[in-house]
Amino acid sequence: MAKRKIIIDTDPGQDDSVAILTALGSPEELDVLAVVSVAGNVPLWRTTENALKITDLAGRPEIPVYAGCARPMRRDPVTAEHVHGTTGINGVDLPAPSRPAESQHGVDYLIDTLRANDAGEITLCVLGPITNIAMAMVKAPDISAKITEIVWMAGAYFEVGNITPTAEFNVYVDPEAADVVVKSGVKLTMVPLDVTHRALATHEWLDKFRALGNRCGAAVADMLNFSERFDLGKYGWVGAPLHDPCVIAYLLKPEIFVARHINVEIELNGTYSTGMTVADWWGVSKRPANVTYVRDVDADAFFGLLTERVGRLP
Ligand code: BDR
Ligand code: CA
Repeated sequence: MAKRKIIIDTDPGQDDSVAILTALGSPEELDVLAVVSVAGNVPLWRTTENALKITDLAGRPEIPVYAGCARPMRRDPVTAEHVHGTTGINGVDLPAPSRPAESQHGVDYLIDTLRANDAGEITLCVLGPITNIAMAMVKAPDISAKITEIVWMAGAYFEVGNITPTAEFNVYVDPEAADVVVKSGVKLTMVPLDVTHRALATHEWLDKFRALGNRCGAAVADMLNFSERFDLGKYGWVGAPLHDPCVIAYLLKPEIFVARHINVEIELNGTYSTGMTVADWWGVSKRPANVTYVRDVDADAFFGLLTERVGRLP
């Protein structure tokens, strides 16, 4: 597989953190240029600090972290401390970051970096509300032609919603940004709850992360142990869904996923359905396909990949 240059846009978050670690444990396939933070699970200052701490944990303090947008394009922020805890990465108590975030704004970093690279070089991995990418597209429409692909943990159709009965968190927080991106014409892969709800972090897998014997494996086990509390109470499954790492796993091993190229539109002003991803899985609307919509995963292959990659880290 040719090595892909990626930028991770994220709101860590325990599952975001596991995704970042998986990417950093995959240097043969992925060249992580930077991490850009966004307001989402917790406020921006915390997601930025968490991104710095997680890259430190992985022994990669040279990875630059840029702070992006502190709020959605048009709406007030919505956070999810009830799921992730007050820090966003409750379950671990990591040392203070070894360095500050970069001084440039995350949106300007995205614009400058995409402009400085040829078309087809950079893939954007988005693990939170897609505010930064939409803002970059609005500020500098020419960058859309430079993006190879956006792979975004977002949306739900068969599994409906997790923050409202009809909306998944990352879309619900900033539906206007989602609307800009799905209409941009950029190659977009969506990794929705429909697939992440099949990637359940069972206790067997948490034990395997801990048994790796490294500090990153222990941190993954501790973080997921905290975050499952909420999901198990809610769903009553054998393990909590592990959302964001599906994005990185999709880049590394697309063959373990099942997807279909379909039309997806964003509900902006529903009475009860704002932030819904209206996914035309059965092709009844005749609207043009704009999204590769991921629907299923081989969960054992997924967790096998994650444990292998986290096992390569300190
Ligand atoms: C998404 O919302 C966040 O809470 C998680 O980090 C994930 O990105 C799941 O709906
Ligand atoms: Ca996230």
